[in-house]
Amino acid sequence: MAGKRRAKTYPEKVLKVVNAGEHGAVNIYRGQIWGATLSCPSYRTELREFMAHEQEHRAIFQAELDARSVRRCTSYGLCGLGGLVLGFFTGMLGKRTIAVTTVAVERVVLRHLEDYRERLKDSDRQAYDALSKIVEDEQEHHDATERAAGRPGPFLWVVGAIVSLSTEAVIWTGMKI
Ligand SMILES: [Fe+2]
Ligand SMILES: [Fe+2]
Repeated sequence: MAGKRRAKTYPEKVLKVVNAGEHGAVNIYRGQIWGATLSCPSYRTELREFMAHEQEHRAIFQAELDARSVRRCTSYGLCGLGGLVLGFFTGMLGKRTIAVTTVAVERVVLRHLEDYRERLKDSDRQAYDALSKIVEDEQEHHDATERAAGRPGPFLWVVGAIVSLSTEAVIWTGMKI
């Protein structure tokens, strides 16, 4: 990472936070695919498809960071590890728990994407365009998993709440560091 500098401006911070988030998302799916081996093996086809989207998203934001000579977020490695652990345990609990986890993540992500795009629309068209490329996929992940999750009972409601709060905390921290 020689010659790269820390993200300083708002668009740079958004790009590095989304890049780290996509790395987290890739690893949530990777963990869920492992965890689902016993709990719901047939669901893994869709999870693999979603993971491939997240890998594309991660590459889009990595290319943006490279073009600006900006380093990855300090949280990048931790996002990957946290995602893997979260994915594995929710994966072992079965399809509805997997789906509730994804809905919770995507709901937070879609809200932040909307906010970033609104703020960058006139000031940084390139960052805006990069963000716009992933909205449709994230919406698809949200909608498909919302259907699979059904109406969550108390346990799944708590899982969703913890995942939402954790996602918010990761994004908030990423923008600060
Ligand atoms: Fe994504
Ligand atoms: Fe996604």
